[in-house]
Amino acid sequence: MIIDSATPEAIACIVHHLKSGEPVAIPTETVYGLAADATNPEAIEKIFLLKRRPLDHPLIVHLAHIDQLNFWVRSMSDAALSLAQAFWPGPLTLILKKTEQVPQLVTAGQDTVGIRIPSHPVAQKILQAFAGGLAAPSANPFMALSPTTAQHVRNAFPADLWVVEGGAAEVGLESTIIDCSGENPIILRAGMITPEAIQHKTDLIIPFAEHTEIKHAGQHTVHYAPNTRLRLFSSDALNQALENHIATQQLGLLIYQTRTASSAVKKMICLSNQVDQYAQKFYAALHELDHSACDEIWVELPPSGEAWQAIHTRLKKAAAKFE
Ligand code: TXA
Ligand code: MG
Repeated sequence: MIIDSATPEAIACIVHHLKSGEPVAIPTETVYGLAADATNPEAIEKIFLLKRRPLDHPLIVHLAHIDQLNFWVRSMSDAALSLAQAFWPGPLTLILKKTEQVPQLVTAGQDTVGIRIPSHPVAQKILQAFAGGLAAPSANPFMALSPTTAQHVRNAFPADLWVVEGGAAEVGLESTIIDCSGENPIILRAGMITPEAIQHKTDLIIPFAEHTEIKHAGQHTVHYAPNTRLRLFSSDALNQALENHIATQQLGLLIYQTRTASSAVKKMICLSNQVDQYAQKFYAALHELDHSACDEIWVELPPSGEAWQAIHTRLKKAAAKFE
């Protein structure tokens, strides 16, 4: 069921459903999340079951407002406070030292909890009315493509799951995750809040994690993958491969520069060469190509550079499924 969330009555209904321990898929500005009451272990268990996600993968707790942090977080460094002030509400998750009342299932038994304050108006309305924390992973089956529309969620889960309509996600990629629980903050997952943006707004220079014991999104070499075989090409290699391609296989193309299509191309999606616009449409394009009955999806690697790192990471993990 897809719920139009515009009315206060609908929000009250959604909150009642969440309070009674049921999961609800909600829109956020990054991707849609599969939300449940973060203080209710039975509700959280339903998320793991629905997603078929291993229990050792912790969940992010979503809050409406920074005032609610005390219940979840026992200490916050100056760096964490600067990041929170600069980027919340928004596409940033902070890993922080947790309080005792945070259920083990949310944190996978770790001493830290991931917190995000989303900016999406519908997520905000739900969180404000819920007046508590909602644990929400991305609303896709484990390892599959993340959803950026209500319909993506609808397609991936049983019909009785409530899905709240919130339009196409504005950011389109999962949040940047920064671990602030240790002495020096580190980026665990690249997102649209880049090291450059962080330095610009807070003066903090935060490196990417190279190796960590913590369970997080970057650990799996395969992730974010479509069902159709996906291959990556530099721009030149793609031109060459298209020229040489014998049209027995139907191709889906994801590109960012226009080119002459070969007759083997069944569907071609050309995204922007501006990273924000590319990111916004990225998952939707992969969902569409995955449903177009192509034999393979060929992707032109976007430009290199820090701003594109979040896209590159996801493309590499998607391609790794087929290597
Ligand atoms: O944009 C987002 O972050 C979306 C929306 C719905 O908020 N959520 C999302 O959740 O992407 P998920 O579960 O698909 O990815 C969250 C990642 C997981 O890989 C998890 O391992 C990591 O965050 N994570 C959560 N809590 C953690 C913790 N305490 N320590 C380290 N990593 C953590
Ligand atoms: Mg996910």
